[in-house]
Amino acid sequence: MSSDGPFSDTHASIPDAASLDDAAALRLLSLYTAFGADAAIADEPQDRFSESARPEGNRPGPIAPRPATMREPAPPRQAEPRVPRSIPAGTGIGRGGGESQLAQSAREAARSAADLDALRAALLAFDGLAALRQRATNLVFADGNPEARVMLVGEAPGADEDRIGKPFVGVSGQLLDRMLAAIGLDRSRFYITNTCFWRPPGNRKPTEAELVAQAPFVSRHIELINPAILVLVGASAAHTLLGTQDGITRLRGRWFDYRSDGLARAIPALPIFHPAFLLRQPAQKRETWADLLKLKARLAALAMPA
Ligand code: URA
Repeated sequence: MSSDGPFSDTHASIPDAASLDDAAALRLLSLYTAFGADAAIADEPQDRFSESARPEGNRPGPIAPRPATMREPAPPRQAEPRVPRSIPAGTGIGRGGGESQLAQSAREAARSAADLDALRAALLAFDGLAALRQRATNLVFADGNPEARVMLVGEAPGADEDRIGKPFVGVSGQLLDRMLAAIGLDRSRFYITNTCFWRPPGNRKPTEAELVAQAPFVSRHIELINPAILVLVGASAAHTLLGTQDGITRLRGRWFDYRSDGLARAIPALPIFHPAFLLRQPAQKRETWADLLKLKARLAALAMPA
């Protein structure tokens, strides 16, 4: 191996992890993580590079399933939630007609939660999201001040959030904190959560079915916090809570009414760009600054200066 450790060479010499010392094995793991390979899908590694170098007919088939005795118990079989193709405006995902059994049981579990601790417990007890939960380290429920009048709802936890168990603690969360600090808001003055409570494997976007299944918990979360203002951080939150599929570029910076059965009044909701998008497209920070000034003005109008 060269002095650069196991990463200096081409794939032809990717080392056998068993032959590495701890430091080198950790470097190899962090390389895999950086590539997005952060979940084991089989017990034994499969060297796809040497397979693809072999002549066609001589390649192994897909990974054989593990014998039943080695498998974790299968999660209870669940009907795939029926997802409305187009969601009527103003109803929110999962609140339209044709509710699946999974969405119904999520709604019953969420509705019975009388406070935040009960809602967290109901989420932990809900068995409709086994595939998502089995790969995550922590439930990422919320952070900030539950008494705050401003509530932010993002998309889904990433690796840092999954490790720590709090939303928006990674780089994009730090950018969001800095942007909100610029209008005088910190986590003692807002409450923050996500539309998806577990990290989707490999940082993929949550599927629509996953969002539908969690939507009743998100709605109940909003009812329990009962904020004066909602900020919808990114497209997933805006789509889930406003029941529209319009692009975030069209939605951001406009005030919408968020309604739910358990709320006596509509809550003004402001979609903004997701900070992860702003990290990729820093030129768009100008738009978000304009949106945050609207939030600041609305807070001032409600006699709640930021
Ligand atoms: N992005 C989100 O939408 N939520 C988080 O908690 C972290 C990153």
